[in-house]
Amino acid sequence: MLEMPEKKLFITDTILRDAHQSQAATRMRIEDMLPACEILDNMGYWSLECWGGATFDSCMRFLGEDPWERLRTLKKAMPKTPLQMLLRAQNLLGYRHYADDVVESFCGRMIDVRNMESPMRAVKKYGGTCEAALSYTTSPVHNEEYFVKQAKDLVEMGADVICIKDMANLLLPSTAYSLVSKLKEAVDVPIHLHTHDTTGTGAMVYYAAALAGVDIIDTALSPLATGTSQPATESLVAAFKGTPRDTGLDLPSLSKAAAHFKGVAQKLQDQGILDPKVLRVDPNTLIYQVPGGMLSNLLNQLKQAGAEDRFEEVLAEVPRVREDFGYPPLVTPTSQIVGSQAVMNVLMGRYKTFPKESKMLLRGEYGRLPGKVNEEIRKMAIGDEEVIECRPADRIANEMETLRAEVSDFAKSEEDVLSCALFPQVAPGFIKKRDQVEEVKEINVIW
Ligand code: CO
Repeated sequence: MLEMPEKKLFITDTILRDAHQSQAATRMRIEDMLPACEILDNMGYWSLECWGGATFDSCMRFLGEDPWERLRTLKKAMPKTPLQMLLRAQNLLGYRHYADDVVESFCGRMIDVRNMESPMRAVKKYGGTCEAALSYTTSPVHNEEYFVKQAKDLVEMGADVICIKDMANLLLPSTAYSLVSKLKEAVDVPIHLHTHDTTGTGAMVYYAAALAGVDIIDTALSPLATGTSQPATESLVAAFKGTPRDTGLDLPSLSKAAAHFKGVAQKLQDQGILDPKVLRVDPNTLIYQVPGGMLSNLLNQLKQAGAEDRFEEVLAEVPRVREDFGYPPLVTPTSQIVGSQAVMNVLMGRYKTFPKESKMLLRGEYGRLPGKVNEEIRKMAIGDEEVIECRPADRIANEMETLRAEVSDFAKSEEDVLSCALFPQVAPGFIKKRDQVEEVKEINVIW
């Protein structure tokens, strides 16, 4: 029998967040979640990921749901299981850096680890468990020593759990085994692994990581699993049944929960939101080292410019831009920045124009870049402007007061203020419409 560490393998299920974000544009509604909540809550998961990422934006923009209300409803429906959310360091869930007081207020209810100080402090202040994530990527600077050092720094800053986030499914079984072994030696907190099945290696990566002693893995119930989502919960649970890494989860109960989500997945597919294409294995990521989501973004940008035939050129340009920009990881928002610059370089000539975000990145506004920046290119982009060396948020004055004043005529709560701070284009309209509907409901009651 295969040798394995003698300890239970814990499972976080992503069915309520990453699974539908990865396969169905984050469009699962609260009424599609609630019928399964009781079974999910009794399952014995390590946690259920259900909030954060794109859910906040999608709730307000597409679903007409108040994201804060969704969180309260889910907590009430699943009181026993820890609920997990994904927060992007000082960006929270939006696309810029926020002042510390916004971060703190947000948590009361990551390219540069220093961007994680304030969110981590705030999460812990309010009694949350802080899981700090390493964005896994490959580059000459992102080697095992780099990740081990990041993990040690994050534990020193107070991380309760370290997560390896392999959102592009770039990890291979052997590299996962090696990285998890090194991290287990270096730090004492649990190691959580998050991968996808985009390139078809997801379950193998988890199996190898389990042999190396990983504590927790992220899986999704089968109806929204595999492909661009996580490997299937039931398959992994079955794979470890009766071994020293038995997850303790009950397959018949999982299957009951899955039966519900099968209907939800079918509905999303009938509505054209879930395109079965996302279920196919796409090994291009392993060839180009570019996340699947970024590949489709690039293709869309080229389509809009009527230049689809230049896809290969853009793919070849991405690693060059990335090197010039000091090897930012290809995750939101830096993946969009590198991608847009690569498209511009191909369509208009190399570094003839710099989008605003490229300049911000090179100015250090997203934090210190992991590698060396090409100074010649930086000079072309920002001239002699000063490059920020300190933690970027140290330069942002507290902004809650101003934000409160700006939206005081329609915001009903501190949560509304935060929603507007994070999504200024979407939240005000959403809140006004929500309150109109509520007024109508009240009138109905009176009559
Ligand atoms: Co993910």
